[in-house]
Amino acid sequence: MLDSRQVTASAPGKTILFGEHSVVYGKPAIAAAVDKRAYVTLKKREDNLTHVSVGDLGVSGFLDLKNRTIKLVTGSPFQRGILEYIMRSLLKAETEGSMDVDVRLDIPIGAGLGSSAAITVATIMAAASFNQIKLTNETISNLAHQVELDVQGAASPIDTTLSTYGGVIYLSKNPQKLTKLQINNELPIVIGYTSTRGNTGELVEGVRQKREARPEIINPILDSMEAVANGARQALLNGDHKTIGLLMNINQGLLDALGVNTEDLSKMVFTARDNGAMGSKLTGAGGGGSMIAYCPGKVEEVVSSINQFENAFQINVAHEGVRLE
Ligand code: MEV
Repeated sequence: MLDSRQVTASAPGKTILFGEHSVVYGKPAIAAAVDKRAYVTLKKREDNLTHVSVGDLGVSGFLDLKNRTIKLVTGSPFQRGILEYIMRSLLKAETEGSMDVDVRLDIPIGAGLGSSAAITVATIMAAASFNQIKLTNETISNLAHQVELDVQGAASPIDTTLSTYGGVIYLSKNPQKLTKLQINNELPIVIGYTSTRGNTGELVEGVRQKREARPEIINPILDSMEAVANGARQALLNGDHKTIGLLMNINQGLLDALGVNTEDLSKMVFTARDNGAMGSKLTGAGGGGSMIAYCPGKVEEVVSSINQFENAFQINVAHEGVRLE
């Protein structure tokens, strides 16, 4: 019976391994989907309302899909943003309303793991399936990127691509070409994150201004980041631990030179290295947020040393992207 329909879809978060910031200037980046997922369940409601609850965030509200308005019931105005992604995702999948949307996250909030993209991708798949529409991954990925553009104004396709397809991708923004890297060996990666978050828009703008003021200094840094990402691609394919670690450390130095590092990130970066990581760097926009450490044989030591003063956990590559549960 149609009215008892219930659909759950899930999609993984992501982490950037190499190339944040330089990717904005057409340089390559490498990113991986991670085994922390967003789960979105849709259930038919008998009234004419669409209710959303993101339990882990304490956010809930009603969506009016016809008039495209949101009524926040619990949560801060800042957290309302997540309801915007969900509303636009439901609309992209041609949903008309009358449903309960429940979002469950095992992606830690504020760890820079692309939770909004994972929620967006999972919502689009769940809603399409709920509406008995079959979407290809390519369509889901494109629609999700559109949602991010609509909500954020600007977005790279990295997050939505990884949440859709899973795996490890090499991305060159100019032209926007994504190549899936066949990496079969495990990547022993630890994520560490602080509660302070950087503002991506401001950080990207800060780099732009530096480059405009001093192109003769900043352009060679971006060129070096390109060489780092290309070297890392080969090292990852070869399972060359030493080179992967070395290139992460160089990338961290270059990101610091762009002004997006912080003392808190540095502390985690050096703690990881002191406890056996072969390399470590900030990941994502910087200015707070997260770092990654490459830790063959030393995952537990690195996790527990960072956990003394911040939050850390191990991640694995999620080879499977969006799926129906
Ligand atoms: C943020 O996760 C990554 C940046 O390179 C911005 C972007 O690519 O959109 C800083």
